[in-house]
Amino acid sequence: MQIFFYHKPNRLVEPVTDKSANKKAKDILDDFYQNRVKLKIPSKFIENWGKVALYHPKGDLDKANSILIEPENGAYNLKNNINDLTGKEWIKFTCSWFIFNALKEDIKQEKALDPNSETHPATYSPTMISDFISFFTKKGDNVLDPFMGIGSTAEACKRTGRVAYGTELNPKYHSIAIRREERFEKNIVNGDAKLIDTFGFPMIDFSISSPPYWDILNRSTGEFKKVRDKKQLDTKYSEHNLDLGNIDDYDEFIKSCAEVYVKLYNILRKGAHIVIIIKNVKKDGKFYPLAWDLAKELSSLYELRDEKIWIQDKIGLAPYGYPFSWTSNILHHYCLILKKV
Ligand SMILES: C[S@@+](CC[C@H](N)C(=O)[O-])C[C@H]1O[C@@H](n2cnc3c(N)ncnc32)[C@H](O)[C@@H]1O
Repeated sequence: MQIFFYHKPNRLVEPVTDKSANKKAKDILDDFYQNRVKLKIPSKFIENWGKVALYHPKGDLDKANSILIEPENGAYNLKNNINDLTGKEWIKFTCSWFIFNALKEDIKQEKALDPNSETHPATYSPTMISDFISFFTKKGDNVLDPFMGIGSTAEACKRTGRVAYGTELNPKYHSIAIRREERFEKNIVNGDAKLIDTFGFPMIDFSISSPPYWDILNRSTGEFKKVRDKKQLDTKYSEHNLDLGNIDDYDEFIKSCAEVYVKLYNILRKGAHIVIIIKNVKKDGKFYPLAWDLAKELSSLYELRDEKIWIQDKIGLAPYGYPFSWTSNILHHYCLILKKV
């Protein structure tokens, strides 16, 4: 007998062996299938519908609204309006911190796309961003990055089956970003992120981005600058006066950066999340809580949900402060999570 119904009598998900319960479950599943578009059932279930079973922890058929394929991969609740994940997949992402270092495969892929991709001084990994996109969107959703750089977010959208939109000020980086996928070419504008609500973008379901970390690149010295100068790679984003990375005053930077996300609010769907990846920084020996101040500035408009802390543990430590004062090597970033309510 093919099993169409599972329950969880103790700690394990187990098949219900009763024949009539399975018949009723099959009828319910047929009804779900008929309404698959309305119910937004993820394609990973639709494509394997023959293997899909109904699930209710207490074995209550009338209340069952979860489906599964392999019990060990968890069940997907049809009321899930955020993503396509089962409960088991969902929980994996909910840890408030993660360790992630640059991936060779991502860098190799970027170089294959354009040998000059390395010239961008501060990209993030499409692999890392794919995890955020998979959590905060459903397949086919619109994802926007106002600081698109060379298109890591667009690459993550390509890998996860989402649609990328965005802006990037520097034409050199923009020209690489638009090559990530043909259908995103017209969606990524070479322009100022502060005008994000004027480019005719559709309603956006999720945004993830990393703005310039104030003007820290302009002040870069030491190994980073030496190595990149030698290879004739950029050590700052541009000389453009609209480039947020060229704002010297801290308060002005916070205001300008926040303005981008205020404009973004106008084209965000209600209930949509945004993730901003940013760091606290030091300038001339003084500590500036950039991530916290930006979060505070935006929390009058958005609901500040919380943060996920991204840790890099493969970067060498410099002997800052020794032997006089406490000065950390800042190797963590804040992924601020905000919501339009
Ligand atoms: C931290 S980088 C983002 C890199 C990107 N996440 C990637 O992986 O390629 C910040 C980007 O913001 C861009 N930028 C700075 N000011 C901007 C503005 N006013 N409008 C649009 N882009 C801007 C810079 O050129 C730079 O590429």
